[in-house]
Amino acid sequence: MTFLFNSDPRRGAIFAEAFAAELPDLPFAMDAETVDPDAVRYLITWTVPENLARYRNLEVLFSIGAGVDQFRFDAVPAKVKVVRMIEEGIVRMMQEYVMLAVLALHRNLPAYLAQQRAGEWRDIPQLQARARRIGVLGLGQLGEAVLDRLKPFGFPLAGWSRSPRRIEGVTCHHGEPGLEEMLAVSDILVCLLPLTEETRGFLNADLFAKLPGGAALVQAGRGPQLDHAALLAALDSGHLSAAMIDVTDPEPLPTGHPFWSHRKIILTPHVASVTQPATAARAVIDNIRRHRAGLDPVGLVDRSRGY
Ligand code: NDP
Ligand code: OXD
Repeated sequence: MTFLFNSDPRRGAIFAEAFAAELPDLPFAMDAETVDPDAVRYLITWTVPENLARYRNLEVLFSIGAGVDQFRFDAVPAKVKVVRMIEEGIVRMMQEYVMLAVLALHRNLPAYLAQQRAGEWRDIPQLQARARRIGVLGLGQLGEAVLDRLKPFGFPLAGWSRSPRRIEGVTCHHGEPGLEEMLAVSDILVCLLPLTEETRGFLNADLFAKLPGGAALVQAGRGPQLDHAALLAALDSGHLSAAMIDVTDPEPLPTGHPFWSHRKIILTPHVASVTQPATAARAVIDNIRRHRAGLDPVGLVDRSRGY
């Protein structure tokens, strides 16, 4: 019975150390070439390897990241449990990123950066936090954690999910009608949705039209959710005021793409949050213990929903 680590070897070394200390009875391998494929019960990877079928006894496939949209589910036998990464390092970094983005947009940073480049010293009327409404798309591990960090600032907070949720201090909406209600009161809209067939192209002209005039966007979900042309049109018409974008399609964003130099866009290269190996190893070890005890792992993916 072996755990196969198929990712960055520097992260692998940290995983190997944690596994040796916590699960000494489970051999840990990083070299797919030399491992006995029949011994592999657990595999952690970013994408599903072409030759997955050789691991005939695979029981759990772990994603090294929070998202699983990069997995081709049809290549993974139905008996294999697919598990996304839920670990405190990813959550903490996403909280930092969304605070950075929301505060930058709330305090008009894109406009001030443009003024700085133009040598212009001019104040912009500043709304107080209680008058800036924040809406978060996705109330999962990350959406809820981000809302929790936003609470002390005093912004009116709302969130949207597929199923009904209750979160103290947050007006929760769900489903199609709930989306319209939330968009109408989102001066800053934060996207933390997984990429699925339902959320591909979700941030589009129709959605932007339902936001209040002057609203701003934080996109930290997945690149293919955002219609680039629609965002540019909404920014250029003045309907949207600014955007902070961490994920694009494709990645890297091609040279010369209008996002690079748009004065209303702040762009980061898919760095909002990054799996932290020490805390991730701890989360995977806990999940292997759960699996061995006959429990479902934390972060078990529902393949029919795609997340
Ligand atoms: P979760 O699976 O915990 O949460 C997903 C949330 O989205 C849930 O609240 C779910 O609703 C909601 N949702 C999904 N589909 C729909 C839909 N069609 N309509 C309405 N709501 C929907 O995911 P995480 O919070 O852990 O992560 C979210 C995403 O963040 C990841 O999938 C990844 O794409 C992205 N990410 C980006 C990173 C970056 O660096 N930019 C880093 C890490 C993650 P319900 O509660 O009803 O199930
Ligand atoms: C993730 C990511 O899904 O880094 O973890 O985007």
